[in-house]
Amino acid sequence: MIRVLIVKDYEEVSREAALRIAEIIRSKPDAVLGLATGSTPIGCYRELIRMHKMEGLSFSKVSTFNLDEYVGLAPDHPQSYHYYMFQNLFNHVDIKVENIHIPNGVAEDLDEECLNYEESIKRAGGIDLQLLGIGRNGHIGFNEPGSSFESRTRVVKLSEQTRMDNARFFKSLDEVPTHAITMGIATIMEAKRIILLASGEAKAEAISKAIKGPKTVMVPASALQDHEDCLFIVDRKAASLL
Ligand code: PGA
Repeated sequence: MIRVLIVKDYEEVSREAALRIAEIIRSKPDAVLGLATGSTPIGCYRELIRMHKMEGLSFSKVSTFNLDEYVGLAPDHPQSYHYYMFQNLFNHVDIKVENIHIPNGVAEDLDEECLNYEESIKRAGGIDLQLLGIGRNGHIGFNEPGSSFESRTRVVKLSEQTRMDNARFFKSLDEVPTHAITMGIATIMEAKRIILLASGEAKAEAISKAIKGPKTVMVPASALQDHEDCLFIVDRKAASLL
């Protein structure tokens, strides 16, 4: 079952998410976190950085696994998720570089990269807390509508809607990669806890379908209905169709 916390606005979504992540790190300093990119988690990362600087929250033993990365973008490409994570979180906290895991979108053998990624998650003991955003089409990670609930880390083709939604970060639509590596839905479902964040009216339909709709591969986030510890933290606008 999905539990839902409805809060006032984006700031509160960010704070509530950061509080829960901090709580996990404090109770288990070597926690394994699954992290997300996109515009939604930025406020949460900002709050975690504040907690690190002002409240002594330490990431020194934390390991992280990001959900996804664009195929073809090197780690130093400003639109890569590697770059995003260092800019928005890792450069500002005391995490050890060797504990950071993000799929390599320029690996020579992408299939092998995906298998190795799954292996590394297992070796780390699995993900304690997976943070998620949600696409307007209900995607989680880059698992687009139609993705099997059995899917694992793999190379996927991005939907045109997702490419258009993400074009705002690039100079033009043509520059948005066509493929990505993403953890699969089964990979995500193995996380011990999941927190999904959503803010704004554009996400209201996806949130409503994920929670109230039938479980269907056409709404990848609806798979979360079967997770035993999944919390959606949404603002009033994203909750407006609930
Ligand atoms: P957004 O993306 O946070 O930039 O809206 C979320 C997602 O596509 O998962």
